[in-house]
Amino acid sequence: MSWTLKAEGLAKGFTLHLQGGVEIPVLRDAALEVSPGECVALSGPSGAGKSTLMRLLQGNYGADAGRILLRRPDGSVADLAGASPREVIALRRDTIGHVSQFLRVIPRVPAVDIVSEPLVARGIPREEARVHASALLHRLNLPERLHALPPATFSGGEQQRVNLARGFVADFPLMLLDEPTASLDAANREVVIALIGEVKARGAALVGIFHDAEVRDRVADRVLDVAPLQEAA
Ligand SMILES: Nc1ncnc2c1ncn2[C@@H]1O[C@H](COP(=O)(O)OP(=O)(O)OP(=O)(O)O)[C@@H](O)[C@H]1O
Ligand SMILES: [Mg+2]
Repeated sequence: MSWTLKAEGLAKGFTLHLQGGVEIPVLRDAALEVSPGECVALSGPSGAGKSTLMRLLQGNYGADAGRILLRRPDGSVADLAGASPREVIALRRDTIGHVSQFLRVIPRVPAVDIVSEPLVARGIPREEARVHASALLHRLNLPERLHALPPATFSGGEQQRVNLARGFVADFPLMLLDEPTASLDAANREVVIALIGEVKARGAALVGIFHDAEVRDRVADRVLDVAPLQEAA
């Protein structure tokens, strides 16, 4: 159950092909270590590269350099930075849960099925997965009548709660949270703080971006500063 995440020497830049190949360096020699039961908050000014680091840890972007080491409970280690697409898919199904800042709406799929999907992907029967999904949507105060509707027309806060339920529905040993409380009211913010506490208590490792300082102070054990790179002279 206890996984450890250790990233080192990470570099990432973007090449803007439509702008004559302009290079934008974002991260250089970034490092991070998270232990089971710990929540590390990424902090730093807008544009510093927090979400970029998060996407690297998710296996969403390839790194230009560095390693992202996931140590399994049996002591073996996977390097996400050098993993094949097939390995990345398996790690994202079983190991790395994430809550993005915005829900990626899938046309015509009801909220309860979007939330069930991580459980179904792990082989849990759909009806059983729906029971878990619905319970979590209730806990996040999403009205019952919305559970069977596709979230395309939901409000920002309703969509974010569907997104949160999807991220928290399975017992991932690593969780990545990008602004999980950004569009929530105070009552639902408390639910998310409680959910994060439960995930820590069961020994999962978390990395989060929390612009809300109160939320950050209550959930984070440590803050990691992501500093903007200096402009090349
Ligand atoms: N896909 C991309 N292509 C080109 N540039 C990108 C891409 N993604 C991010 N960037 C650039 O990388 C830099 C870091 O972006 P990132 O989204 O990681 O910042 P952030 O620290 O999360 O900021 P915020 O607090 O505003 O969310 C920015 O200058 C951004 O313009
Ligand atoms: Mg960001």
